[in-house]
Amino acid sequence: MSNQFPEYRGNMEYYCLGCDSRHGIDELLYTCPRCGSVLLLEDKNFDSLKNKSGREWRELFDNRAACKRDALRGIFRFYELMAPVLEEEDIIYLGDGNTPVVKAAPALQDAVGLPFAIKNDGQNPSASFKDRGMACAFSYLQALVRKHGWDEVLTICASTGDTSAAAALYASYLGGPVKSVVLLPQGKVTPQQLGQPLGSGATVIELPGLFDDCMKVVENLAQNYRVALLNSKNAWRILGQESYAFEAAQWRDWNMEDLCLFVPVGNAGNITAVMSGFLKLHELGIITSLPRLFGVQSAHADPLFQYYQVKHEKDYHPVKARASVAQAAMIGNPVSFPRVRRLAERYRALAGAQAFQVVQVREQDIIESMLLANRHGHVVCTQGGECLAGLREALRLKIVDRHEYALLDSTAHALKFAGFQQLYFDDGFGPEYEITPRREFRNEPVSLLSNPEKEALPEAEYVSRAALAVADRLGLKRR
Ligand code: F0G
Repeated sequence: MSNQFPEYRGNMEYYCLGCDSRHGIDELLYTCPRCGSVLLLEDKNFDSLKNKSGREWRELFDNRAACKRDALRGIFRFYELMAPVLEEEDIIYLGDGNTPVVKAAPALQDAVGLPFAIKNDGQNPSASFKDRGMACAFSYLQALVRKHGWDEVLTICASTGDTSAAAALYASYLGGPVKSVVLLPQGKVTPQQLGQPLGSGATVIELPGLFDDCMKVVENLAQNYRVALLNSKNAWRILGQESYAFEAAQWRDWNMEDLCLFVPVGNAGNITAVMSGFLKLHELGIITSLPRLFGVQSAHADPLFQYYQVKHEKDYHPVKARASVAQAAMIGNPVSFPRVRRLAERYRALAGAQAFQVVQVREQDIIESMLLANRHGHVVCTQGGECLAGLREALRLKIVDRHEYALLDSTAHALKFAGFQQLYFDDGFGPEYEITPRREFRNEPVSLLSNPEKEALPEAEYVSRAALAVADRLGLKRR
């Protein structure tokens, strides 16, 4: 049974968060054709899923964890809750999802003062959580290509580096009529992130300015030309990213008591998806309470923090993003803000005002939290560091309690952001970052012997000289 492809099919439609209009899914829509607002997707048959009890769903998803069908091995383990209009042949599986949750090292938990774990979403195929959304968006695209027999589809996205890596990866796997173009803010993605779409064979276009500028260019292109937009404005991406919430709930054996999650916020697609995912689980009785959710933003790019915590939901203004080591989240005008506002309202109505909050952290704390975590055996990126900084800030503000258990989202792999670690070690940050490296977190390689010294020695002698130099440096005792 759990090894079968599901029989259930949904009846999905876009709904507009601006004017509440509804639209069919046969066409790729990014914004409402009537009022221009952002869209979300809804399954009109969703209520029929309530014919199964929460317990039956839990058992089904637990059993499906052992499923051998490729289409159900990744994020589509939760098929019925995500995009149940796709056929098995449409689903692309590149090893997305099922990312490990790693308990924080005991010494790290002691240092922070609260038990917590880290979900390593950097262990997705392109080394960030973006693959969750792309697996869904490209599967839907494949279904459309199959249905309409399109002979060319140009996929396009703006990116701070990870969306583009994921989009280029999935597009190159699909191949055929599907081609990938990515627009990047020049000098504002890391060399590793730049190398990813290049390696996948995508067309990489760099433009001056920040992500927010690139996003406007891509929106203009999507409005005026025949391109498939793959930013999280594309609501299929949000559906795929809901799998993070489903996996987090399953990891806790579906018990949300005392759980709080920390999620870094940039374009706000991720926090939208996480909220939406938990709301679905709750509606079906798969979980009986909602976990608390904390969005985390750097003081250098904090429009959500300003709206929720400073203005108390009085008025929303985009901010001008400033230099940030959490560069992937360095966004002043998040596209998904209207989605967050709508879902946070529902979330708070069900679980209380404390159930959704946004905390603001300093750049210095972001990078040092990353270094601290990674010195304890973790592999968090700067955005993961931002989550840990957020947890520490929430503890300082006493808005989390020591009996709670935190789950931090390390949204990408540490290696993508190794350059920021190096800047810290080299004391190389410009003043705009407001980061002053401290000795205790710095590290550098120790060079012993020079090349000419090596060349002047016979091999056997070199080995003993080098061993002696190492032993001297380490103060080793002879046996
Ligand atoms: N963490 C990482 C590693 C990211 O790449 C992003 C966003 C975020 C956090 C923030 O998530 O936008 O859903 O609120 N990166 C996008 C990109 C914008 O283009 O790769 P969000």
